[in-house]
Amino acid sequence: MTGAVCPGSFDPVTNGHIDVITRAAAQFDEIIVTVMINKSKRGLFSVDERIELLGEATAHLKNVRISSWHGLLVDYAKQEGFTAIVKGLRGANDFDYELQMAQMNQRLTGVDTLFIPSNPSFSFLSSSLVKEVATFGGDVAGMVPENVHSRLLSRIAERAAE
Ligand code: PNS
Repeated sequence: MTGAVCPGSFDPVTNGHIDVITRAAAQFDEIIVTVMINKSKRGLFSVDERIELLGEATAHLKNVRISSWHGLLVDYAKQEGFTAIVKGLRGANDFDYELQMAQMNQRLTGVDTLFIPSNPSFSFLSSSLVKEVATFGGDVAGMVPENVHSRLLSRIAERAAE
């Protein structure tokens, strides 16, 4: 049985993430999409909300499950008995940062990172940019799953009213 961890902040999940998760799920028997907890960052969505949104958006992928982890990613991969991490790569900027993390993770525990080149139609997408555009009223339909789109608009409205 082959398995891989697909980690990220997912605040919120975008269609770029869904593309990578879908393609990773076609290569492994099981994929665990893991929301990495960063206590120093206040997200737009709580970790539980991100998990819920990811669960809804990947419900059609039967070999994908969602989790969260606080700490080193490689410790989580080892705990699950997985020897691979899957990451999407949008371009050269991602590559520099991702290569360094992949080499560190390999050095720490021998867990290897496999990269999936992003679909060019999503290579400009990031959760941060989607949030920024949506905050200023830009249309992000088609950039995030539909369940995320509606929650994103209502959360932005809530935050604006705070
Ligand atoms: O979606 P992001 O924010 O680009 O994801 C980055 C993330 C969370 C996957 C990365 O920062 C990470 O793996 N953090 C967990 C802590 C860890 O293992 N740090 C050492 C990396 S070599």
